[in-house]
Amino acid sequence: MSNIAQKRIEELIELIREHDYKYYVLAEPSISDYDYDMLIKELQSLEEENPDLVSPDSPTQRVGKDLTREFKPVTHIVPMLSLANTYSEKELLDFDRRVREGLPRTEEVEYVVEMKIDGVSVSLRYEKGMLVTAATRGDGTIGEEITPNVKTIKSVPLRLKKEILSEHKLEGFEVRGEIYIEIEHFRELNKERELKGEKLFANPRNLAAGTIKLQDPRLVASRPLSIFLYYLLNPQNGTETHADNLKLLQKLGFKVNKEYKLCRNIDEAIEFCRHLEEVRNSLTYEIDGAVIKVNSLRQQRILGTIAKSPRWAVAFKFKARQAVTKLNKIVWQVGRTGTLTPVADLEPVFLSGSTISRATLHNTDEIKRKDIREGDSVIIEKGGDVIPKVVAVVLSERPSGSMEPEVPSVCPVCGSVLFKPEAEVAIYCENHQCPAQIKGRIEHFASRGAMDIEGLGESLVDLFVQLGFLNTYADIYKLRQRKDELVGIERLGEKSVENLLKSIEKSKQQPFSKVLFALGVRYVGAGAARKLAEHFMSIDKLMNASEEEIESVYEIGPSISKSVRKFFSDEKNTQIIESLKEEGLNFQTEGRPQALSKVENKTFVLTGTLSRFTREEASDKIIAAGGKVTSGVSKKTDFVLAGENAGSKLTKAEQLGVRILNEDEFLELLEGE
Ligand code: IVH
Repeated sequence: MSNIAQKRIEELIELIREHDYKYYVLAEPSISDYDYDMLIKELQSLEEENPDLVSPDSPTQRVGKDLTREFKPVTHIVPMLSLANTYSEKELLDFDRRVREGLPRTEEVEYVVEMKIDGVSVSLRYEKGMLVTAATRGDGTIGEEITPNVKTIKSVPLRLKKEILSEHKLEGFEVRGEIYIEIEHFRELNKERELKGEKLFANPRNLAAGTIKLQDPRLVASRPLSIFLYYLLNPQNGTETHADNLKLLQKLGFKVNKEYKLCRNIDEAIEFCRHLEEVRNSLTYEIDGAVIKVNSLRQQRILGTIAKSPRWAVAFKFKARQAVTKLNKIVWQVGRTGTLTPVADLEPVFLSGSTISRATLHNTDEIKRKDIREGDSVIIEKGGDVIPKVVAVVLSERPSGSMEPEVPSVCPVCGSVLFKPEAEVAIYCENHQCPAQIKGRIEHFASRGAMDIEGLGESLVDLFVQLGFLNTYADIYKLRQRKDELVGIERLGEKSVENLLKSIEKSKQQPFSKVLFALGVRYVGAGAARKLAEHFMSIDKLMNASEEEIESVYEIGPSISKSVRKFFSDEKNTQIIESLKEEGLNFQTEGRPQALSKVENKTFVLTGTLSRFTREEASDKIIAAGGKVTSGVSKKTDFVLAGENAGSKLTKAEQLGVRILNEDEFLELLEGE
């Protein structure tokens, strides 16, 4: 039986691989979704019946169940280089001249011009035809391993055709490319997030970059990432040009962008760059330029690399995309520290994958310098960064009778009189109880770089402040006492309240440096918070430190030290800190206690009903101590934590000789007694 099963499993894997290739790489499906699902179902049930026949490159193994606790460092044997940027024809001609100067005088140079995909670069390592490791670029020398996440990408082949591999002597080799997400998927996901009040992704690249670093491969699989490969590293495969390598990549079953061109000289290359810039707006994915590469691999070797970029390739960056729209109104936003920032409220306009209705105007000087007025037609631009900006006013379209905007003298939110320090361009609302400041402080506290409370974004904070549930960020930890009220809120529901409360609990594990940053002391950014935490080791020491002592910390200047002193001399702040201490937040730096290493890297399975804590709480404790929790017992399981009425998992653990713990023993292990 098992022989027949094995043969059929092999057949199914091959069939599904072929269909995945047709669907995800060629975009030419040849069977119906239904028939495809039937193949998958058949494979799944055969594998369930014969667990020892499950091979890691089976399509059923694309989505792992285990959370990735940490992304392990991977050293790139050949560094992942970046490209020098050019912005004009002249710079491209200079590049061509440098290339020819670096080669023997009589040599012709051909170029391949490709699209520069705006995504996240990745390196894939194959051994014996199987994908073994996927890694991010990192700093170019050391990246992070993201294999379980990359395996979920259907256009990444898990296995390659043996015949082609041996024909090209490809035993172990690497390919590199760009992971990206289609603009349409980006828009859909943002729409869903908006409805749920979650933070939006700024652009498809940020979404791809965020997704590839998620800990749960199932979540990654739910976001349809894709990939284009553009680089094959293997000196012995017999190819002589980059264009041949692209063809070979295609032949191997990789997805290669078809919009590339082999150009006989730089003029042709420039022409094709222009062509790509023209087609840019009609693509379903984002590109931010073109890449020009010397075609001959021999010439590439002669040219070599300089610093972190090859001499044989260069990026030609397209101009930032601009749009013209009407500036309806200048709105003054009050930030968490009371600073007023002018923001342009725009007639919504579509630009680079998203609709823009706001742009920052920075400060009053900027408004004056650009002579921006309400009612103006303005040119906006989305640069490399997230927030669009107003580049200039179209003066010829200025409506008659328009006037320079007035700078407010009272806070638009709380009405208190504003303060403008002599030496600064900024204006401040000094009312600590201004609702805008309250909201801003709480939002900052909960944000990803600070306490990282998932689900507590702008709209929920707004709502909770309005309802009077939150007045200071210390109130966040009292929300659990209002669970019933929260569940009653129409938008929320039981499940999301539970998730929210869970992420609030989890935030208590954030290290001291993040807690310090979360407090929102003016001028204390994430970096300064880290330096202060490292130096003083505890909030008490920092609170008792003089300005001079604070300034003695490397790279901490007088504005920070004054601001820190001011913050801690305010009784309201010290009271909040006391309350946060009682809730168990980390107010000192500590290394992970030695004893916890008993749990580090160990795999746990939980079974039965636990009495002292829920399964989630137990999992959280294990993960916090550096362990892993999986669902099924196998030889690789280190411990089974068994509660009341444990069933088959307990039996299996006994059979395999896996150590079984009751709750007391589990706690002892955690505490390292
Ligand atoms: S070639 C030595 N080709 O742009 C080869 N890169 O700064 C270096 N990129 O890190 C890369 N599309 O993430 C190459 N067709 C393409 C590309 C491309 C996008 C990215 C890649 C690289 C960055 C260059």
